[in-house]
Amino acid sequence: MINIAVLASHNGSGLDTLLKACEDKILNLNIKLVITNNTNAPVLEKAKAYNIQSFLVNSKTNSHPDDTIHQILQENNCQYVILAGYMKKISIKITNDFKVINTHPALLPKYGGEGMYGRFVHEAVINNNEVISGVTIHEVNEEYDEGKIILQKELTLISGETSETLEGKIKALEKIALVEALAKCLK
Ligand code: GRF
Repeated sequence: MINIAVLASHNGSGLDTLLKACEDKILNLNIKLVITNNTNAPVLEKAKAYNIQSFLVNSKTNSHPDDTIHQILQENNCQYVILAGYMKKISIKITNDFKVINTHPALLPKYGGEGMYGRFVHEAVINNNEVISGVTIHEVNEEYDEGKIILQKELTLISGETSETLEGKIKALEKIALVEALAKCLK
């Protein structure tokens, strides 16, 4: 069974998605561990509730956080790394040795890059009067949001769409897209 690690800085909504997909036997994965850079990340509580090993790794806990993350991934034989709202850049050492996958809340290459996350993305989409937005599941390389696109799903904005309403729709679409993308990768 494939071991995966989930990296998250806050809620780790992707972890919920993967746990449900495994429970529903849609994906056959072993969610081996969770790594966060944020002491107060709610994802730590989720990991505990599901008896998933978790690690806090950041520049305060480790002089070279990415080396530590690489070591944890290697020691736990994780083949895939899923970024579920992980706000740090991933080192090339990690992206070279592991398949790192991210969910981005827009149709890359538009609305990607440093600083483009969460509400900032949706506000930019709305301010630019876009008719469609969507979700991109992509491989992660050493640049923000530039890795190979695995799958995209679109949605059409309604008149009067706000960043809040768009965020809710995008998050729902991400759940579907992430599971579909992983099923595609693991085939
Ligand atoms: C996802 O919605 C995705 O857009 C991006 O980070 C968000 C997850 O944040 N990768 P969280 O899981 O709600 O903290």
